[in-house]
Amino acid sequence: MPASKAKKNRILTGIQPSGDMQLGNYLGAVKNWAKNQDIQTNFIPVVDLHTITVKQDPQELKKQTFSLVAMLFACGIDPEKSTVFIQSHIQAHTVLAWILSCTTPIGWLERMIQYKEKSHNQERVSAGLLTYPILMAADILIYDADEVPVGEDQKQHVELTRDIAERFNNLYGETFVLPKAIMPEVGAKLMGLDNPLIKMSKSHAHVRGHAIRMLDDSKEIERSIKRAVTDSYNEIRFSNDKERAGVNNLLGIYQVITGKTVKEVEDDFKDARGYGDLKSRVAGVVISEVEPVQKRYYDLLNDPAELRRLIQKGDNSAKQYAEPKLADVLKKIGLDRDGN
Ligand code: AMP
Ligand code: TRP
Repeated sequence: MPASKAKKNRILTGIQPSGDMQLGNYLGAVKNWAKNQDIQTNFIPVVDLHTITVKQDPQELKKQTFSLVAMLFACGIDPEKSTVFIQSHIQAHTVLAWILSCTTPIGWLERMIQYKEKSHNQERVSAGLLTYPILMAADILIYDADEVPVGEDQKQHVELTRDIAERFNNLYGETFVLPKAIMPEVGAKLMGLDNPLIKMSKSHAHVRGHAIRMLDDSKEIERSIKRAVTDSYNEIRFSNDKERAGVNNLLGIYQVITGKTVKEVEDDFKDARGYGDLKSRVAGVVISEVEPVQKRYYDLLNDPAELRRLIQKGDNSAKQYAEPKLADVLKKIGLDRDGN
């Protein structure tokens, strides 16, 4: 194994430029990648090619892509330490995806839960919806990623990526690292404010009162938290009881942001006057966490030249890994340009 691989864990995760980033994505994922960027190598592609498996408005797609890149940097991802880039700018991904689609049995794709759900009851299903996980496999394998942080719904796709890699390695010799899916720790999972039994999610971010979106202003954040579902126990403590999931979630959000222990958090609320007080204090810490991120986001978005420069930098650094890897694959299958 080359020395560079033994040194730092290589983490890769793709984020779709669709929907608004919400507090769960930030606290459960992006903030940790930023925290760990000195001890691990982060590759973060904005996966615009995955987003077009569902019809998109071209202008909107472009806007969302730029906006997501700006948000990632605003969340503390450092362009000097991590590689943030745009998937469609690195054509090696799509070439590798084609090659892998030639070694992947259709049956493996047809049993993907997400494919079954998304194609169910659809009159016309695009080939892209079926082959989507192969592109995801290419995203991961082309960088020799060791770990892939994902939500539960993407775990099966990472397992499929391992199968795809293993099959290619068996057919053509050792080529790809077998990646592992990693999930957020249980305590770090934010639940919906409107329904604390389901995960706070980007795909429900448009539902009023469900999520705290990273770009919500302080009034909106206060309003969403004030409306959050609680219970009638009027007791401020952590609990696994389903009925108390709302209060538990609010305390969890407070805990992840402040970094305090369970006891410290409960102590902080000893003098609280009911759930109204709990909610305003939670809103207070959320707002002070989110405001500086928003400021950095708008500063960057108002400087498109700088944003383009950072994207170019990320693209260039991604290419330095992806292109030699693709060249190796092409050679192994006899598609290189060497005459002998
Ligand atoms: P998703 O938006 O579901 O594609 O998730 C992108 C990343 O954010 C994954 O690493 C998820 O584990 C993380 N994430 C998404 N929603 C939450 C949440 N409610 N709480 C904690 N982490 C989350
Ligand atoms: N399929 C993932 C999703 O829908 C996004 C994605 C694309 C991804 N390529 C990836 C995630 C590579 C992790 C690694 O959320």
